Amino acid sequence: MISENNIKNISKYKTPFYYYDLALLQQTLDVVNAESSKYNYHVHYAFKANANSRIIQTIKSYGLGADCVSGNEVKCAIENGFDSSKIVFAGVGKSDDEINYALEKNIFCFNCESMQELEVINELAAKQNKIASIALRINPNVDAHTHKYITTGLEENKFGINPYEFETVIEKLKTLSNIKLIGLHFHIGSQITDLSPYKKLCTRVNEINSFFLHKGYDLPIINVGGGVGINYHEPDKEAIINFKAYFKVFHDFIELRKNQQLHFELGRAIVAQCGNLISKVLYIKNGINTNFAILDAGMTELIRPALYQAFHKIENISSSSKSIVKYDVVGPICESSDCFGKAVELPETKRGDIIAIRSAGAYGEVMASKYNLRDDVRSYFSE
Ligand code: LLP
Repeated sequence: MISENNIKNISKYKTPFYYYDLALLQQTLDVVNAESSKYNYHVHYAFKANANSRIIQTIKSYGLGADCVSGNEVKCAIENGFDSSKIVFAGVGKSDDEINYALEKNIFCFNCESMQELEVINELAAKQNKIASIALRINPNVDAHTHKYITTGLEENKFGINPYEFETVIEKLKTLSNIKLIGLHFHIGSQITDLSPYKKLCTRVNEINSFFLHKGYDLPIINVGGGVGINYHEPDKEAIINFKAYFKVFHDFIELRKNQQLHFELGRAIVAQCGNLISKVLYIKNGINTNFAILDAGMTELIRPALYQAFHKIENISSSSKSIVKYDVVGPICESSDCFGKAVELPETKRGDIIAIRSAGAYGEVMASKYNLRDDVRSYFSE
């Protein structure tokens, strides 16, 4: 819910912009830390979800590690004070420059996604006279039952090393003296709202963990990635997800040995609900079958509905009209996919009304583009 006070605050700023509730972010982080520390689990924040500096500084102050997928994310984490011993670096296409930079900064672990990448990291580490710690990112072939664009753990997806490659990888590792295998990494997808895929993941992790032990690798790190979903339909009812149930699934189903640490990489569940995209209605177009509310924000500010047909709750936060009208809520960009929601029920809406697009703190601002030569998107914070 956007409070009366915040609505007053919001009306001061020129739209469109992201409006973040830092108090909610802090409450969320309190819960993450309380629930994960019950089991001594280690949580890394997935920078890709939101790299706004106030957001990452807040997250850093709670002691989380960083999960990065590019050299610039590693740099951003280090510049914002994240301890390099808590930085993990994943991604199917790490460039030589990115690997060299991460090696120079002595990050905690590279999550390696292919055989060839193992060889390249080994070669670059040798040139720097270092031994790189690596985890194998494994494709566990577990269906996350989420949108196909954000499913990552199936054999058809480009991510990770497949189990049929394990024997060859183990042989290869014996020849690579500048990398040290310290763990196994998994990530099956994003916006996973039912916890049962995680139970399946735990079963696969147990099998693979035993396989590696049997081959002589007693690995200290198991990283199960992130992906737990949030409630886009009722953001006020469930502003903070049930982290207790989430971490408990792993506690109940994963079999760790005494020397093994469990790591997580959470993005969306930490930052999604604390961000709203605030926009103004530019025009109303009433048609025979369809009314349009045309906003000054579009897919350039928030691409999720256009790219994944994602649902975001849309609210008119300035109208006090009692009559409800259906609108297709669209942006100004020259693309028909530039639509935030079809037949959205809103109080009768007019030019100048303020619209909040909710739950936009994850994969919103960070995925903004300049298509149509749009201005950079701004951000403000609730006081
Ligand atoms: N770890 C790895 C290896 C990942 O690839 C991701 C997300 C995460 C952790 C964090 O996942 P999260 O907890 O945020 O679900 N742009 C899409 C989401 C892409 C997710 C990519 N990987 C969206 O807007 O839904």
